[in-house]
Amino acid sequence: MKKIIVTGGAGFIGSHTVVELVQAGYEPVIIDDFSNSDVRVMDGLKAILGFQPTVYKTDCTNKQELTDIFTKEQPEAVIHFAAFKSVNESVEQPLKYYRNNLVSLITLLEVMQDFVVKKLVFSSSCTVYGQPDENPVTENSAMKKTASPYGYTKQVGEQIISDHQSVNPLLACAILRYFNPIGAHPTGLIGELPFGVPNNLVPYITQTAIGLRPQLTVFGDNYQTPDGTCIRDFIHVVDLAKAHVSALAWMDKNEGSCEAFNIGQGRGDSVMDTIKAFVRVTAEQLNYVVGPRRPGDVEQVWADVTKATTELGWKTELTLDDALRDAWLWERNLKG
Ligand code: UFG
Repeated sequence: MKKIIVTGGAGFIGSHTVVELVQAGYEPVIIDDFSNSDVRVMDGLKAILGFQPTVYKTDCTNKQELTDIFTKEQPEAVIHFAAFKSVNESVEQPLKYYRNNLVSLITLLEVMQDFVVKKLVFSSSCTVYGQPDENPVTENSAMKKTASPYGYTKQVGEQIISDHQSVNPLLACAILRYFNPIGAHPTGLIGELPFGVPNNLVPYITQTAIGLRPQLTVFGDNYQTPDGTCIRDFIHVVDLAKAHVSALAWMDKNEGSCEAFNIGQGRGDSVMDTIKAFVRVTAEQLNYVVGPRRPGDVEQVWADVTKATTELGWKTELTLDDALRDAWLWERNLKG
């Protein structure tokens, strides 16, 4: 069975990808420092899979520990999720973000080179496009200035991979540019576990609906969009996880290729659309107010997913409604 190193495998997208990998016949090996993930995720994985995947509590900037893991596991490929991801925190603590996100990537690439591991899937983000001139964005759309050090670590991360790959032509890389992942596993056993007050819309919605937060603030309703609120491309985390399995299969057939792929649903929904959909699918009340714009927010961005559809043979199967229903099931399960 092919072993796949999954850095950040206890995180939100990582844990869902671990499930999909097992279901596709791979053997995931998780590396996670648990600095921004919860050990309860491992219980959820065990409940879904019937066994606990191998997990190492390791920081990916630690080359010796990575080397020891690669020596023991001899992986076939790496999926690199491990990174800090808070836009706000990255503005306040840029060095923390540059050190962690870039040093871990560089260290991992060095260790992969030492062990001749020739396949890498990298977690990038639609944040690399900044505020695009036109939607939907394709992989050839310009990379604009991003609003945060976090976004810049993704732009630079892509550049590091591309430069490294150009002198290591046997290395295959799939750079997946995620749009807005939401939802949870349909079993309600794993999902997003934000530490403290959530930054992202859907965890804020579910925490408000369940009574953990008094109200949701909609950040601005005076944008140049049909209802005045920002537009995003929300994608169910299970669909997103499956894109990683498709990327591994693509790399089997495309030795030495390095390509970026948009991974979204291929449609835009506004913040207000999302709130209304949540209320409709859950029949819950949601207390919200409209507040000022959040600094750094992109007005609207959604994906053209033609490249992922045609080249990876992947497409989404779940809807915004499915994602909101699953996120709500997860929130209720967390409450117990
Ligand atoms: N929003 C609110 N109220 C909230 C939270 C969010 O109105 O309490 C709005 C935001 O203003 C934005 C939309 O909901 O218009 C989506 O916000 P999120 O924070 O959920 O997501 P972002 O699009 O800001 O950020 C996401 C990822 C980042 C990534 C970015 C790329 O979280 O990691 O997409 O665009 F960099």
